[in-house]
Amino acid sequence: MKKIDRRSFLNDVCPAIAISMIGATFLESCSKGSDDEGINVSLNTDPANESLGFAVKDNVVEVDINHPAFAKLNSDRWMNITAQQMFLLKISESSYRAFTNSCPHQGVRNSWSYNQSENRFVCSRHGNSYPSDCTSSGTTGNVLECYTTSVTAQKLQITKP
Ligand code: FES
Repeated sequence: MKKIDRRSFLNDVCPAIAISMIGATFLESCSKGSDDEGINVSLNTDPANESLGFAVKDNVVEVDINHPAFAKLNSDRWMNITAQQMFLLKISESSYRAFTNSCPHQGVRNSWSYNQSENRFVCSRHGNSYPSDCTSSGTTGNVLECYTTSVTAQKLQITKP
C-alpha cells in the first residue's frame, strides 16, 4: 500500500470531496445573499393607484389633493378612503389629519360620518363617537388613531405606523 502524507492528501483529495459534500450548501447560501441584495424596496408602488389620485410606497400614502377622486375632501372636509383603510379630515388649505377607519369599538370601517359642529367622527354601527383632535377619548374611552401627515406641493403624505 502506498503511503501518502497528510498534506498531499489534503491538497489532492480534499477539495474534490469537500466540494461534493458541502458545495450545494455553500452555493445555496451564497445565492441567498446575492438575491437579498437585489430586492427593490420601491416595488410596493402600485401605478394603478396613481390614476385613482394616490400612490403607496411602503407605509406612506401620497394623495393628490387636487385629483377629482378627492373632491369630497374639499367639499365635505372629510372622506373615507376604504382602499387604504383610513379617512382624511381637512383642517385648512395646508393642513389635514388622517385616521384609521377602524372603529375603536368593534373595528367597523364603513359606517362613519363627521359631526362638524362637535368635531367628532361618529360610527353609526353602535353610535359611538370620537373627537378629531387626535388626543381626546371617544365614548368608548379610546382615542381614534391618527397618522402623521404633511403637505408639500399639493401632495398630502400620510405615514402609517
Ligand atoms: S363598531 Fe363602531 S360603534 Fe361599534
